[in-house]
Amino acid sequence: MKNRLQAIRAEFLDKLKQAQNLDNLREIELKYLSRKGELSEVMHNLKDLSLELKKELGELANNIKKELENSFEETKKIIGIKDDNKVFVDITLPGEKVDRGHLNPITVIQREMEDLFTSLGFIIADGPELESDYFNFTALNIPPLHPARDMQDTFYVDSKNSDGTLDLVMRTHTSPVQVRTMKKFGAPLKAVIPGRCFRNEATDARHEHTFYQFEGIMIDKNINFANLKSLLEIVGKKLFGPNTKLRMRPKFYPFVEPGNNGEYTCFLCEGKGCRVCKNTGWLEIVGAGLVHPDVLRAGGIDPEQYSGLAFGFGLTRLAMLKYGVNDVRAFNSGDLKFLEQI
Ligand code: PHE
Repeated sequence: MKNRLQAIRAEFLDKLKQAQNLDNLREIELKYLSRKGELSEVMHNLKDLSLELKKELGELANNIKKELENSFEETKKIIGIKDDNKVFVDITLPGEKVDRGHLNPITVIQREMEDLFTSLGFIIADGPELESDYFNFTALNIPPLHPARDMQDTFYVDSKNSDGTLDLVMRTHTSPVQVRTMKKFGAPLKAVIPGRCFRNEATDARHEHTFYQFEGIMIDKNINFANLKSLLEIVGKKLFGPNTKLRMRPKFYPFVEPGNNGEYTCFLCEGKGCRVCKNTGWLEIVGAGLVHPDVLRAGGIDPEQYSGLAFGFGLTRLAMLKYGVNDVRAFNSGDLKFLEQI
């Protein structure tokens, strides 16, 4: 029986080599590989053998079968291509799915916000992530040694000014770019600034050392609190739907006066109170206020002539809320299990 198997193998491979077209192939398939083919017949007869022989020959037969099927498929492919008018393509099969990447959820929301603000006439500005102490703090009305510096745990970079003070920081917010854009473009000015920020946090599910903000600044004659409120209302409706309400509560930020926190009605429970909004009905999402005169001055703008509004959204926080991500560390983890599901 062993010989018989070897003979079938040799004969099969020989015939296959000579095959010219798909008809030849079909004949070969029928004669050797089909259910009534020679190979099946031999395999069928194995059942009459002793246990030991059955095992040995069964294995051989299986190996040969696999080998023959593989070479058959190979040849079929080659002939299929050559045999022009009988190309072996089953057009009814679904196409091969091409895996495409997708954008990070933070990028998706950033682009949504950029679209909204450019449609309102804002430009998109950019600034360095490694920032000078001056722009990150001093120009924003947070002088050296002022206790307000403690509001943000900062990564100081080991580079000193001539007077020995530390000069560079990983920017703790996107607000330094407010002053940079004022200096660059002057007033009137409408700009948004998306970007990555860093804080020396003890990380946990809600705190991360690297995160994204979306800053905005608008400077013109007679900009007032009503302008700020209506603008933030537009953003809220765009982000969370037309029924979204805004409330603004006082909060101290040295670079705005008056300063406040903008809160939107929770998009999940629509203000009724749920787990996401910690039963308050409101989501705290944006820091905002009217630009402090000292900051306008630092940007080379005369506060007697112009006033401005500014706001800073937590972009990472927005993405967490919108996509129901409950651990902020997932965004930077590089964990494919996380990245592929959103
Ligand atoms: N820069 C502030 C922060 O990071 C947010 C903010 C921006 C507040 C603009 C007021 C105005 O917390």
